Amino acid sequence: MRKIQKVVLSSRPDGVLKTDNFQLLEGNCPSIGEGQFLIKNSYLSLDAGFRQWMNEGASDNYLSAMPLGEAVQSIVLGEIVESRHPDYPVGVHVVGRTAWETYSIADGSDLMTIVDVGNGVTEEHHLSVLGPSGMTAYFGLRDIGKAKAGDTVLVSAAAGGVGSLVGQMAKILGCRTIGISSSDKKCKWLTTDLQYDDVINYNSEPGLDKSIKALAPDGVDVYFDNVGGEMLDTVLPHLALKARVVLCGAISQYDDDSHAGVRNMWELITKRARAEGFMFSDYVDDYEDAATVISQWVAEGKLNAPVSLTHGISTTAAAFCDMLTGKNLGKSLVKLF
Ligand SMILES: NC(=O)c1ccc[n+]([C@@H]2O[C@H](COP(=O)([O-])OP(=O)(O)OC[C@H]3O[C@@H](n4cnc5c(N)ncnc54)[C@H](OP(=O)(O)O)[C@@H]3O)[C@@H](O)[C@H]2O)c1
Repeated sequence: MRKIQKVVLSSRPDGVLKTDNFQLLEGNCPSIGEGQFLIKNSYLSLDAGFRQWMNEGASDNYLSAMPLGEAVQSIVLGEIVESRHPDYPVGVHVVGRTAWETYSIADGSDLMTIVDVGNGVTEEHHLSVLGPSGMTAYFGLRDIGKAKAGDTVLVSAAAGGVGSLVGQMAKILGCRTIGISSSDKKCKWLTTDLQYDDVINYNSEPGLDKSIKALAPDGVDVYFDNVGGEMLDTVLPHLALKARVVLCGAISQYDDDSHAGVRNMWELITKRARAEGFMFSDYVDDYEDAATVISQWVAEGKLNAPVSLTHGISTTAAAFCDMLTGKNLGKSLVKLF
């Protein structure tokens, strides 16, 4: 009998998420039914957005609140090892939304896509630059941010899974990029490895407000907002005329359900600016076209896909907590097999 290991949400976080909120369990792998297939998961994708669905009462907000005692929802990549589904044969690789577990049973729903590995495209690419993070960066920048050559693009959480790609893609489009991060070490990495033109360590003097003013005296054309809350408020007075604010994520708010109000909305009026939210899954029909463009950028060496990797399912909870507190550089992944 095949064994399965999974990490379950064992208690609701009270503020900051801790490894104590999770438990690693082992049991027998259930059998698949008609129309189902079994995936042997080789990678788990750690995505900050899932944090908010760990809170009580997060239901009806895109996804439902994760039930206690069940494996934590996650995007995964794996190989099909058993199948009773005609469209998902044994041997193919798939990416989809299942859970933090070594094997997943799926039926083809929940963003399940067959992917090709080889010819320079790795499994890691499918969960980073060609996966949800890459699609979020690409469509957020292109469709919501309408970034164009000459724009000044400011990115928060710039060293993370999404932010590390946004900056590079903006450079490819001919924009000037400014990345925001939490330490000098991460800021240095942004300029050396990701070609950010300028960086701001929001924890050091002269602080975010003065730094944006100094680096973008004519204003920010596109603000790619991964953080929300106070950071968003601080950026709004620095928008250029007709600026676009890409509301991608609000990581500063996920530990606290109160979702602090934004006070500087007036700036959007006087700057004739636009702020718009989106979810990467809105663009599922356009992924293939985006993947063609992104793969070309990777093949030409214009786009790096940096990952922070840990090994083994037992590292998952700590790696997720570490990512939320900024210990990662690039996309956080767990390699299982
Ligand atoms: N709309 C969509 O479809 C979509 C899809 C994917 C992700 N997202 C959003 O994109 C954002 C990034 O997600 P990700 O998975 O790529 O995570 P990530 O950026 O790899 O990791 C999160 C980063 O956020 C920063 N951070 C954490 N708490 C912060 C705070 N209080 N203030 C400022 N920065 C803070 C940390 O970087 P520093 O050390 O630099 O502060 C940390 O490394 C999240 O908000 C997520 O919800 C949205």
